[in-house]
Amino acid sequence: MDSILKHKVIWITGASSGIGRALAIELAKYNTRLVLSARNMELLEQTKQFCKLPPNDILIIPFDLKNTSNAITMAAQIINTFGSIDVLINNGGQSQRSKADETPLDFDRDLMEVNYFSAVALTKAVTPYMKRQKSGKIIVVSSIAGKFGFYLRSSYSAAKHALHGFFESYRLETEKLGISTLIVCPGKIKTNISLSALNNKGELHGVMDPSHINATSPEECAKQIINAVLNNKQEIFIGGKELILIKLKRFFPKLFNKIIRKQSPY
Ligand SMILES: NC(=O)c1ccc[n+]([C@@H]2O[C@H](COP(=O)([O-])OP(=O)(O)OC[C@H]3O[C@@H](n4cnc5c(N)ncnc54)[C@H](OP(=O)(O)O)[C@@H]3O)[C@@H](O)[C@H]2O)c1
Repeated sequence: MDSILKHKVIWITGASSGIGRALAIELAKYNTRLVLSARNMELLEQTKQFCKLPPNDILIIPFDLKNTSNAITMAAQIINTFGSIDVLINNGGQSQRSKADETPLDFDRDLMEVNYFSAVALTKAVTPYMKRQKSGKIIVVSSIAGKFGFYLRSSYSAAKHALHGFFESYRLETEKLGISTLIVCPGKIKTNISLSALNNKGELHGVMDPSHINATSPEECAKQIINAVLNNKQEIFIGGKELILIKLKRFFPKLFNKIIRKQSPY
């Protein structure tokens, strides 16, 4: 079954840190060919070194998810380099730690751009190649915040909810063409996500949420995502006891509403 991934060309956004870096390192063990994207070139180079693949099997394309106007050019660059794009992992993202009424509208738009529109733009750019190949996989890293709203995360949560609407529709339209879609909903994973979250002044929050300190590791998260790919899953949840909130919201909404109000924003 592992041969499903052998030599596949996999484009990972957010590959400079956390889940994206762990995915790159884990996927490299399957002799894949990787395209690594994020803004920080130095950290992307580090990820490349950790992957230990032949240098020609890794391409780095740095860019800001806030501006995906050259998505089509980037997809063409991957095709020119490797000849196919088999998997796109829309993983890059930035969280928020600011109250809805105190967040400037421009920041709300930026959060939507980084966490939602970038995934839409990259997916539209790779779809023609996947249609031509009659095969492909789109992976979208949403969040449990894509299933319910939470303190200090209004636009982040809105963007994650939007991913579900877009990619559930996209899946229906493209699965008959050989393209499958996996939506990943992590709970709490021990990465830099809270450190690099934006506050209402556009500054980095800079503090690790206490609830993330003993959370699931990015390596374990990456393994579960790859397992879901190998088993052709459509949606998965990764994390610890926080995942119970999803079931509570669905089956016991009154209890959920009580519990969610008592949670710490951090
Ligand atoms: N950790 C969690 O508990 C958790 C829970 C639910 C969902 N998630 C989701 O998991 C995904 C990965 O996050 P993570 O936890 O691994 O956090 P992370 O360690 O902070 O990594 C975030 C990645 O996204 C990239 N990124 C952020 N803003 C970007 C921008 N404007 N342009 C290009 N790249 C950008 C960062 O790279 P550069 O800074 O180099 O650009 C970095 O590689 C995100 O979509 C996040 O929402 C995480």
